[in-house]
Amino acid sequence: MIIFDKQTEVKAYLKPFLQDKKTVGFIPTMGALHEGHLSLMNESLKNNDYTVVSIFVNPTQFNNPEDLKKYPRTLESDVEKIKTLNPKIIVYAPTVDDIYEGKTVSKSFDYDGLEFQMEGKHRPGHFDGVGTVVKKLFEIVNPTNSYFGEKDFQQLAIVRKLVQKNNMSVNVVGCEIFREANKLAMSSRNERLSADERAKAAIIYKTLAEAKKLFATKTANEVTKRTEKMFKNQSLFELEYFEIADEQTLLTCKRKSKNKKYRAFIAVFVNNIRLIDNISLK
Ligand code: PAF
Repeated sequence: MIIFDKQTEVKAYLKPFLQDKKTVGFIPTMGALHEGHLSLMNESLKNNDYTVVSIFVNPTQFNNPEDLKKYPRTLESDVEKIKTLNPKIIVYAPTVDDIYEGKTVSKSFDYDGLEFQMEGKHRPGHFDGVGTVVKKLFEIVNPTNSYFGEKDFQQLAIVRKLVQKNNMSVNVVGCEIFREANKLAMSSRNERLSADERAKAAIIYKTLAEAKKLFATKTANEVTKRTEKMFKNQSLFELEYFEIADEQTLLTCKRKSKNKKYRAFIAVFVNNIRLIDNISLK
């Protein structure tokens, strides 16, 4: 299996394939790989001549230094997982310096307002960090297709906007949320939960599923208020936000419109570990 840690080497390796009009599928990750990441890789393997996975814990997208410090770093086992899935996958696992070249700062991006909603309100600077690293990675790998999970639905919308605004040629593919047996959305952060917390975190998806049912007959505001009230009685979980928003603009739904698609979004703290999830309300 080929593992690169220098952008110059990945670029040089992929160049002849791209000149030959081969397709390259790309999955950017921060490691601590789980089944959700592997499903993105499978999607890429099915649809491209080559698949590249990057493993890089991007410092500029963490608004909370403690979260960055505690983010799981498991390069060896990540590489093993990829090798077991398919040893032909090309891995790019750079150092901070290889990506940021001595200047570990974000660029500032305008995503037409998508950045000011939900995660943007609670994680200042997060989407500038994501945009900075994803743009750099796209410039290095030059992918034909790039795969992102819908768990980070706002990130997916933002990456699509980034590509559109910068006239990049990559096709951004959104993939369904991969869930654990109790329907908890798969996330690298789940590794930090105790067995008990992980089992009880089933409440997050349960809340979303209930919200979906309620939204058929209630207003977005009513569903939101009920959800907030329910979380007030939870000792293990602290609700950061619950929002029903338009899938396109990510603006909070004030009044339902038949022509719009809505999604419920949630962010919850379990013992200082932040988990997010969402569900289509179609
Ligand atoms: O979703 C993630 O893991 C990260 O935000 C990404 C897209 C790899 C950028 O660092």
